[in-house]
Amino acid sequence: MIPFSPPRIDEKTVKEVTEALLSGWITTGPKTQLFETKLAKYIGVNHVVCLNSATAGLKLILNWLGINEGDEVIVPAYTYCATANVVIQTGAKPIMVDVNDSDFNINVNAIKNAITSKTKAIIAVDIAGYPADYDEIFNLINKEDIKSKFQPNNKIQKNIGRIALISDAAHSIGASYKNQKTGNQADMSSFSFHAVKNLTTAEGGAVAFNLNSSFNEEEIKQHFKTNSLHGQSKDALTKNKAGGWKYDVVQAGFKCNMTDIHAAIGLVELNRYDETLKRRREIFNLYSNFFSKKEWAKVPVYESEFKKSSYHLYMLRINNCSETQRNQIIDQISKKQIAVNVHYLPLPMLTFYKNLGYKMEDYPNSYSNYACEISLPVYFNLSNDQIKEVSKAVEDAVESIIQ
Ligand SMILES: Cc1ncc(COP(=O)(O)O)c(C=O)c1O
Repeated sequence: MIPFSPPRIDEKTVKEVTEALLSGWITTGPKTQLFETKLAKYIGVNHVVCLNSATAGLKLILNWLGINEGDEVIVPAYTYCATANVVIQTGAKPIMVDVNDSDFNINVNAIKNAITSKTKAIIAVDIAGYPADYDEIFNLINKEDIKSKFQPNNKIQKNIGRIALISDAAHSIGASYKNQKTGNQADMSSFSFHAVKNLTTAEGGAVAFNLNSSFNEEEIKQHFKTNSLHGQSKDALTKNKAGGWKYDVVQAGFKCNMTDIHAAIGLVELNRYDETLKRRREIFNLYSNFFSKKEWAKVPVYESEFKKSSYHLYMLRINNCSETQRNQIIDQISKKQIAVNVHYLPLPMLTFYKNLGYKMEDYPNSYSNYACEISLPVYFNLSNDQIKEVSKAVEDAVESIIQ
């Protein structure tokens, strides 16, 4: 059996988690704080807030921006549901746009056509860990005619001075764009440490800030932390200390803080993350060496002059392959006890969004990318022999179904 993406849990993880469990303090505390400091340093930003998911991060960002009913937020049609669900939860409307055929990321021309005077933010997704086209998106939203269309609803939006750019960096921790790590491009970025991600805390996420100098990021970080803990004026550890019982509630906050048990896993993961990325890159290269020789295969782009992926998902596409044939290929691979996946069911195919009136035919690249896509197993302990086994299983399945 070859699983799709098991976590790398070993003695080091068990030791760090055990230490957290026996420390006398198991929710947000010193380990979370240390993880935040180390993450900020790793990413190369001043401030990071750890949370229980990337979804919570995206939601806190939209809330902080004051996105509301009547607003529009541009999202790719080809992403995980969380990217658009958070927009729905604010009362705003997700405006879906198509993605590139070349690399699965949001198409900048499609963004341009979707901007209206109601557009308050764009959420670009670094699909598979490959960074979106940040410079091109910034060039667009900084254009005078687009800036003059922008109607800020509050002081924060006014200080940003244009449509806000948010990065759904759920896949891309450690990826780079023009020699800077992801987290340094968009105004704010939300990373995921979910169980199948490159760097996991079981469940978890973090927001990195990259705001202009009119903002005090230290204060904003504090606002996010407070908002992740009921809006309580004091963190739980301080409140729990002798004599520390008194607190106030300054906002109707959420409850989405990271615990020290989760941070303990993250600290071990981050400490060896360079090694993780190195192995993931080797796996991507081995797959690409194999598949680039097959005329039926379209190998994913994961490195270019300006971008380096975090090598999160190896998204192989099969040329001239219908959705039904792709499903048959997956069935055949699965019979060999190899777990592959599909990223993603485009949002307009999901009942909730279909019922809202989004139509798949409006996003042709999203559909064609999805219909012929198969994500292959990638994880640190995947051996070279297993990579060969997966490659051969894919080849056998494709050649028996497509020919
Ligand atoms: C593109 C994308 N955005 C957001 C998320 C949500 O991440 P989390 O599970 O940490 O909330 C995911 C999770 O898989 C994702 O793939």
